[in-house]
Amino acid sequence: MPFFKSNRRSFLSWFVVTLTSTIWFQKSSASVTAIQIWERTIFLKDYATNNNLLYGAATQYSILDRDRDFARRFIEECAILVPENDFKWEKLRPTPQSFDFTKTDWLVGFALRNNLKLRGHTLVWYKALPDWFAAKVDRTNAARYLVEHINTVVGRYAGKIHSWDVVNEAIEPKHGRNDGLRSSPWLEYLREEYIELAFHTAAAADPQALLTYNDYDLAYDTPEQEARRTATLKLLERLKTKDVPIGALGMQAHLYAGSDRFNAKKLQGFMQNVADLGLKILVTELDVVDRSLEAATLFRDRAVADIYREYLDIVLAQPAVIAVITWGLSDRYTWLKKFRPRNDGTNVRPLPLDDNLDPKLAWFALANALQSL
Ligand code: XIL
Repeated sequence: MPFFKSNRRSFLSWFVVTLTSTIWFQKSSASVTAIQIWERTIFLKDYATNNNLLYGAATQYSILDRDRDFARRFIEECAILVPENDFKWEKLRPTPQSFDFTKTDWLVGFALRNNLKLRGHTLVWYKALPDWFAAKVDRTNAARYLVEHINTVVGRYAGKIHSWDVVNEAIEPKHGRNDGLRSSPWLEYLREEYIELAFHTAAAADPQALLTYNDYDLAYDTPEQEARRTATLKLLERLKTKDVPIGALGMQAHLYAGSDRFNAKKLQGFMQNVADLGLKILVTELDVVDRSLEAATLFRDRAVADIYREYLDIVLAQPAVIAVITWGLSDRYTWLKKFRPRNDGTNVRPLPLDDNLDPKLAWFALANALQSL
């Protein structure tokens, strides 16, 4: 009885969640039995695979290496792993001349041993640059640094990476440019061509990997997010017109419980435009900020699960979507603990599994959405 090992309270909450969810779940599922869920013989990756989708999550070397229970649950639930930080410049580049591949080598080995696909995140971003970057990189050498970085990193793992986030978060309409591009060292030194340079270099270094442009705030029906959708589409159109080897758009999907709403028509229209360019779509960083919800756990979990379900029902209607990836798997480890903590001091609960690695309502929402296409 593996899940009742902790205590009576966790048994009770597991029981309530399982019962309510199973009843709800059974309504739309002929193929999945309560016993399968109860005995843990069916996992998120199975629901996804049955519909030709990939389910996976982000995590880190330091977590997988240290927390065996988490690593075991990760392998059970996920078909694809995204190193949350280990591929970022600040982690890989201790000095301008050197690379430290200790952790990424370990992660690639872990993925191979456990039959997980791997996403590379990320090659070109305005954030997570090493401390030496500002003093060393300038207009005269930025292209050399960018090309050398991509050649070395992508080349090292060529053939082993499912997809690369080649460029991350290059758009910020608030910065006021006509094309909506974000001010960044890369833009300043190399102009907007830095984006195509990055894609061409990555394609040459690993012709097999799916090359992705990844960005956030594309989901809600607000003027800011509409502007980001428009700028994103413009960028993707420009890249396709110039035959840049881009294969997919990554939609981060850091969602939140709050007053902003989805507009299915607008979001699906945007995704259709992306698909019409011949691009695949991945949901790359899904989680739900529960900061503004009241504390009661079941209430909160229900509201978070509803957002998962509503969002996924909208985006999974688009056949170009090939993967759903959550930004973390269990509330035990989530960046939101630090970046969007709750004011009442209770733990944030944004992910499919709780702190004990047991499924929450968000898990059932994901399972249900993934299988009911
Ligand atoms: C976040 C990580 O989750 C944190 O651990 C780290 O401290 C900061 O970066 N968009 C991205 C990710 O593309 O790389 C970010 O990851 C979250 C937002």
